[in-house]
Amino acid sequence: MALDPRTHTPSSNDSSHKNALSQFRHQVKQAKQEHTLGWALTRKLVEPRSLPATLEQLVERIPQSSCQPAIQEMLLAALPSPGNTSSKSNVHADRLKELTGLPATKAIRVLCLYFDLVDQESQRDDTFDPQELEDFVRIHTNPYDWLLKVDDPSLLDLGAGDLSFEEALLTQYLPQIQNAGQLLILHALDRLQPGSQFGGVYHASQERLARLSQHPLEYLHFRFWGAKDMLDLTTPRELRKTYSIVTCHAPATPTFAFEPTRLSQNTIQEHLKRTKGDFKTVRVNGEEALEVHHRGRTLTFPLWKFAIRGPLPLLDLMAQRGQLCILSAIDAEVFWEILAQLVEDESMRPPNVVLTQDNLPEIFKQVYESLSSLKEGERCYLSNVTPLRIQLPHALTPHPRGSEGFRFGYVEVRRGAVFSDMPASFTAQQFSQMSEEPLPWCLILIPDLLVS
Ligand SMILES: C[S@@+](CC[C@H](N)C(=O)[O-])C[C@H]1O[C@@H](n2cnc3c(N)ncnc32)[C@H](O)[C@@H]1O
Repeated sequence: MALDPRTHTPSSNDSSHKNALSQFRHQVKQAKQEHTLGWALTRKLVEPRSLPATLEQLVERIPQSSCQPAIQEMLLAALPSPGNTSSKSNVHADRLKELTGLPATKAIRVLCLYFDLVDQESQRDDTFDPQELEDFVRIHTNPYDWLLKVDDPSLLDLGAGDLSFEEALLTQYLPQIQNAGQLLILHALDRLQPGSQFGGVYHASQERLARLSQHPLEYLHFRFWGAKDMLDLTTPRELRKTYSIVTCHAPATPTFAFEPTRLSQNTIQEHLKRTKGDFKTVRVNGEEALEVHHRGRTLTFPLWKFAIRGPLPLLDLMAQRGQLCILSAIDAEVFWEILAQLVEDESMRPPNVVLTQDNLPEIFKQVYESLSSLKEGERCYLSNVTPLRIQLPHALTPHPRGSEGFRFGYVEVRRGAVFSDMPASFTAQQFSQMSEEPLPWCLILIPDLLVS
């Protein structure tokens, strides 16, 4: 006789039920291990004043989840019925233990994590005032000191490479953050596949990763995600919605050097062939790669090396995620293409004209003159030279709800790779040994999401 799923109460010797239960236990355990930040945030949800609302939310959320019906039933039986959530004594600790393997409070916390009650929105720093940030950045030569000013310091590093910057940042800031009794969230990601034969010096070594991960969780939550495309941050869930600072050091070229909304695919591809050489996809030891014939040499790169995304999605991403955005060690090609997006004057975004050293003075006129006269270490406020762009279009999908675009209310340009008081990335440190390479640029930006 077939079982009616609505009336079937699972018994402990039902093997499919046992499987479902052990699978669920495994999943919640994994959620707890993988989302250390989310796990830490669940602590607030079980504080006495939040617990009743948390239990109500769980009871509401469980039936809407994709969890197996038998597990949903068990969970609902373990939690107090709606309207009866006022205290933890109404929770069935033994049933929760069977379901999660954890004692009652931890079990509720892990369920909050599993059923997505850790709202990323609640991670926002409500006390943040953009004007205060601008005043701060104008006065201080080192924008990273913002981490010491905020209550909830956090930094996201995009295209983090070998993680030298993370080490330099922690050496400089962790002792102070620890002394202040704060917790620093440090997240870094890179598109390189860990263990890939391509990508060379930009891979993070196991030793460095181990060093970065060894700090006690009370004052540092460090996570690094490899094989992660920065332009798709829908996962991992542990990423914060906003960070005190978002950085991108030595933004990848040619990825961010050509803006596809300004330049046609044809123009970009022809320019790449002319300047970088012929390229094709090859397979090396079972791994796909991009082979480039450059000035008589054959070079191999990760397959996506010539995937052109342009600066708009990068700026959009940084504006959406950062209170403060810092791009450092930007080479000339990427810098001027980014700059073209930051200014109001449309003649500095000429359609289908690739920016080259030869046409920069003519296209950027007084902006070129002012910026190229900056000496190493000098800074300049772009709004003193030319009006800043009033609205940039969102280039990342999905667009943030209720926002029609974004802008940067503060744009500071600096010349140089390494600044004496600021932590520097691996690439930034290489410039001093590259005598033929022109001095790179640094941009310090304060974004503003425009609401519709
Ligand atoms: C020039 S290296 C800079 C590395 C490091 N930030 C530094 O300054 O030393 C550019 C880095 O960006 C990474 N990258 C390129 N495109 C990316 C993408 N779409 N998402 C994430 N990382 C990316 C590359 O793998 C590489 O490690």
